[in-house]
Amino acid sequence: MKLYRGNIVYSQSRERLVSIEGGYIAVENGVIEGIYDRIPQNYEGVPVEDFGDSVIIPAFSDLHVHAPQYPQRGLAMDQLLYDWLNKYTFPLEAKYADMEFARQVYDAFLQDMIENGTMHACVFGTIHRTATGYLLERMEDTGFRAFVGKVNMDKASPDYLCETTEESLRETEAYLDAYKDNRYAKPMITPRFAPTCTDGVIRGLGELAKKYHVGMQTHIVESKWEASQALIDFPDASCDMEIYERAGLLDYGPVVAAHFIFPSDEDIRILKEHGGFAVQCPDATVNVIAGIMQNATLNDKGVNLALGSDIAGGHNIGVYSQVARAVQLSKLKWFYEPEGNRPIRFEEAFYMATKQGGQIFGKVGSLEPGYEFDAIVIDNMSDSFAPVTPAESVERFCYYGNKSNIRARFLKGKRL
Ligand code: GUN
Ligand code: FE
Repeated sequence: MKLYRGNIVYSQSRERLVSIEGGYIAVENGVIEGIYDRIPQNYEGVPVEDFGDSVIIPAFSDLHVHAPQYPQRGLAMDQLLYDWLNKYTFPLEAKYADMEFARQVYDAFLQDMIENGTMHACVFGTIHRTATGYLLERMEDTGFRAFVGKVNMDKASPDYLCETTEESLRETEAYLDAYKDNRYAKPMITPRFAPTCTDGVIRGLGELAKKYHVGMQTHIVESKWEASQALIDFPDASCDMEIYERAGLLDYGPVVAAHFIFPSDEDIRILKEHGGFAVQCPDATVNVIAGIMQNATLNDKGVNLALGSDIAGGHNIGVYSQVARAVQLSKLKWFYEPEGNRPIRFEEAFYMATKQGGQIFGKVGSLEPGYEFDAIVIDNMSDSFAPVTPAESVERFCYYGNKSNIRARFLKGKRL
């Protein structure tokens, strides 16, 4: 048992951010037991770590990130999706056939995530099983909750980054089999997106989902080009989501739809029916995608939402920066398309990045009793001449903080 003292801020719901000045969090076996204004009598003598006027908040969840693209962050940001993928991203991803390279990047990627307060993530690897498995093993060893996918690409991809359908399915099965019993970092089926997948691979992946009881992540209606190309490639499907639904890919585990910018009513219906998450990646959508998710509208329609960094479509690995950007983009969306849109508030975006996105991993993303103590401690962002509240400190941190403002990091109660 241990007590942590400081200002405490977390989301209770999309509308309500809880802020406690100078409270105590009691943690037992890595799980939060309670939050108290003062030390309860039966906890006299329990060790206390005092963070003064710093702010304790939940660690972040990144529901869409490409680990192999880490070396590309902040580069080629003047391209649009198709050229960005073909000219820059695919040549980089081909390099993960080399384990020496993969180890260096994946170690640095995981370290940078943790330093930035992300402790749960849905991650794309590459088509390479060994390199992707290495990343998943490192995450499992750290106790980092994740879904990690070996990517499937068996058409419309350059020769150096394209599998045969048989190879793609065989390697995916070997990958699922190797890691099916993992505790924290689990495998997930990861077709890159409809344009680079044959009908055969999608159907085969559906059978693997059933056999291994795993979920699926992919890019869904992320750009006008992708949304129309998906339906050219799969003429029998009425929408992007249906390509995966009819293959049985949405029935056996979590469903993660990255971007979800141009959904039809049918896309929305299918995602909701399977309890899936639509992941907004604000930086990526202005860098390489060109479209803004209808955040408030989708929420009002009952879709689960989360945030993602989408490294390296996005250039910031810290999910906190995406909280700020989601608020900014909701205003732009509303300004240019007032019909059916509205600006979202800070509380709503923070909830997506913590408690709501965290749901996919279990009891993480809040500081309420029963949640794992996955948390970070951030500097009080006050000026001496104009003090701000703990909640305002968190907002300011999301707008212009960086990892040097994070004083301490906890994963399941363990200080990292
Ligand atoms: N669509 C297909 N591949 C990718 C990718 O690597 N990043 C993003 N943002 N979109 C994609
Ligand atoms: Fe992506």
